[in-house]
Amino acid sequence: MTHIAMADLSTMQKYWLTTGSVGPRPIALVTSLNGDGVCNAAPYSAFNYMGENPPLFAIAVDHYGPESHRPGEMKDTLKNIVARGEFVVNMVDGPIVERAVLCGSDFPADISEPEAVGFAVTPSTSVSVPRIAEAPIAWECKLFKVLEFSEQRSIVFGEIVAMYIREDLLDGERLRVHVDRFEPYGRLGGPNYCRTTDRVRIAVPTYMPTVGAARE
Ligand SMILES: Cc1cc2nc3c(=O)[nH]c(=O)nc-3n(C[C@H](O)[C@H](O)[C@H](O)COP(=O)(O)O)c2cc1C
Repeated sequence: MTHIAMADLSTMQKYWLTTGSVGPRPIALVTSLNGDGVCNAAPYSAFNYMGENPPLFAIAVDHYGPESHRPGEMKDTLKNIVARGEFVVNMVDGPIVERAVLCGSDFPADISEPEAVGFAVTPSTSVSVPRIAEAPIAWECKLFKVLEFSEQRSIVFGEIVAMYIREDLLDGERLRVHVDRFEPYGRLGGPNYCRTTDRVRIAVPTYMPTVGAARE
């Protein structure tokens, strides 16, 4: 095994080593609205679910890098979320993954990515920000907290207020997702992605006898 101390590395070396080895990561295609009502969409894979009470997502948003077309500026997603306090997380599966990745291109702020890449948007119910019509699942979120942990990066915590889920993916009786039918893509390092169609089931055995009531 090779041992590598983080303190000796450049920012980009740390980026490639961490994003190449923490994966596959779920992809949030985040829609947000700017002050002129332009619907923005961008993919974020530094993203995950953080809890149920309150139901929270976290998304780490970098500022534009020195090499970019807008060095040091906040990304539109972060700007819009901070200003409006609302956003939608659209989940990404096979039929939409290529267009979702295209949304990560360097579009200027006044260009609506969904329109530019050929997504239809449709109104949400609990937030003013539209969702991607083709997304299999979409989460309506209100801003819970922004953690500015460095000059370069912020973590957005969003409280999930409601979800849209395609009927065939929902077990309506048990109120669960048909996980055998939902096929999100995952992100590996760089432009590498994976399908989630090759599944295994591994149950956790019970070691100690359970006490108390089951969680509802
Ligand atoms: C699959 C994918 C995942 C990405 N994940 C992140 C991420 O977690 N954080 C981030 O700051 N940028 C991420 N990016 C880059 C942003 O999507 C890109 O900078 C985008 O242009 C930002 O758009 P915006 O200014 O409209 O928010 C990702 C790009 C792709 C293609």
